[in-house]
Amino acid sequence: MKLAVLISGRGSNLQALIDACAAKDFPAEIVLVLSNKADALGLERAHKAGILTQVLNHKDYTDRDSFDRAMTDAIVAAGAEFVCLAGFMRLLSDDFVRTWHDKLINIHPSLLPAYKGLHVHERAIEEGARFSGCTVHFVRPAMDEGPIIAQAVVPVLPDDTPDTLAARILEQEHVLYPLAVRLIAEGRVRVTAETVRIDDHQPPKGALLNPAS
Ligand code: GRF
Repeated sequence: MKLAVLISGRGSNLQALIDACAAKDFPAEIVLVLSNKADALGLERAHKAGILTQVLNHKDYTDRDSFDRAMTDAIVAAGAEFVCLAGFMRLLSDDFVRTWHDKLINIHPSLLPAYKGLHVHERAIEEGARFSGCTVHFVRPAMDEGPIIAQAVVPVLPDDTPDTLAARILEQEHVLYPLAVRLIAEGRVRVTAETVRIDDHQPPKGALLNPAS
């Protein structure tokens, strides 16, 4: 499965996908890394891995629709058939989301549907949540909504700050995102009535990392 990965910054999830794709038996390859920021660290990660990069600055476009159309053109031109958002900090137009229906996934650092949007770790700590985690989901027009593919659960510890909790969750993101991509590329993931079913996959026993089954 040929992937485009959309980023805006650090790109640690991109790195996890690059590393996963480097394994011989991994059923996906990244053919394009697209950033809306020219100084995104993730672009360097892509260069080092020899992956085609492109920068499209949203400020160069008059509106969201034309920016999103330019992204679709770039993704198609690179031969990608599937899109992974990895810290891409722009809202997407309904048209873009429709164009890539069930071919567009995102990773979010909370157990959706809890804590959509920004400042998720601050909010989880303030509200006394005992667990948080991360979610990989198909993208739908509403922000941080869409059929859930996989989640990993992470404890919130008494002394956690937003930074320590973010770091503990990020470690799991780097495991979860490649797992979700692999399951999709293997053709095991089905969306029926907006719920994900995964065929023939046994989650590790006692795992806190759970693809739906
Ligand atoms: C991650 O926490 C991801 O869940 C969220 O944005 C952050 C991106 O980090 N969507 P990185 O750029 O992948 O390091």
